[in-house]
Amino acid sequence: MAMIRKAVFPVAGLGTRFLPATKASPKEMLPVVDKPLIQYAAEESEAAGISQLIFITGRAKRSIEDHFDKAYELEMELSNAGKRDLLEIVRNILPAQVSCIYLRQAEALGLGHAVLCAKPVVGHEPFAVLLADDLIKGEGQGAVAQMADMYERHGCSILCVEEVPWEETNKYGIVETTPGPQGELRVTSIVEKPAPQDAKSNLAVVGRYLLTPRIFAKLETTERGKGGEIQLTDAISALLQDEPVIAYPFRGKRYDCGSKLGYLQAQVEYGIAHKDLGEDFRAYLRTLEL
Ligand code: UTP
Repeated sequence: MAMIRKAVFPVAGLGTRFLPATKASPKEMLPVVDKPLIQYAAEESEAAGISQLIFITGRAKRSIEDHFDKAYELEMELSNAGKRDLLEIVRNILPAQVSCIYLRQAEALGLGHAVLCAKPVVGHEPFAVLLADDLIKGEGQGAVAQMADMYERHGCSILCVEEVPWEETNKYGIVETTPGPQGELRVTSIVEKPAPQDAKSNLAVVGRYLLTPRIFAKLETTERGKGGEIQLTDAISALLQDEPVIAYPFRGKRYDCGSKLGYLQAQVEYGIAHKDLGEDFRAYLRTLEL
């Protein structure tokens, strides 16, 4: 079975929930402690053996390209100043075997449209999609590596899912499932952002997908849906008619860093767990009278 070698990072959204921070710089560059969200996502895909990162960029996204590019001047200055540790950090943002490709989504026509932009580069192989504003601390291994294991076993599209409070179904793609022959969760329906009273379940798709290339044909015929956008959810719904799709409840914890509260939660928990800062940060938090 084909290995997952390519990952698509749609980073062309407007990030309106995070204005004004996202006015001139992308939300995927927001740092959690000392690393931008997009780097956590890139590292998660590398850990799953993915070697080609495909970024779907839009306006004001130059900083993402710069982040993964070589920074000659900075490296020279750190080297001259004898700052070896920092030099290593800056040099090793991506391992040598990983390559990056940048494609431009001219208009923010939706997540589905952004994924379709990757078609010429992905071609006829299965691929991952990571939404970097969902920061996932995997248990044992990263979420994409867990999903790649599932793909090895089942060879079909896998959606990363999590139970959410019922009153929040209107923020997610919501799936209905039935147990498959090996105990896996077969998706029987998927609906974009249903109101709580209409939702068939509270199992929500979060920002990780492994998709078979047939999704592109579905995206090509997907009409604009909710919010006037071409929705990935609608294309997955069409894919379901042709081939199995599995919902995978990942092991780990997700932080919704596209929302201010989720982002702050990630800062605190990654701060506490940080190898250099953790102890001091914990001590500081204890001094706060909350
Ligand atoms: P969101 O629904 O989070 O939208 O997009 P957004 O614009 O990024 O943020 P808000 O809601 O306005 O605050 C989900 C993902 O799809 C990407 C986004 O970058 C994000 O990773 N996306 C969305 C695109 O790449 N292109 C689009 O046209 C829309």
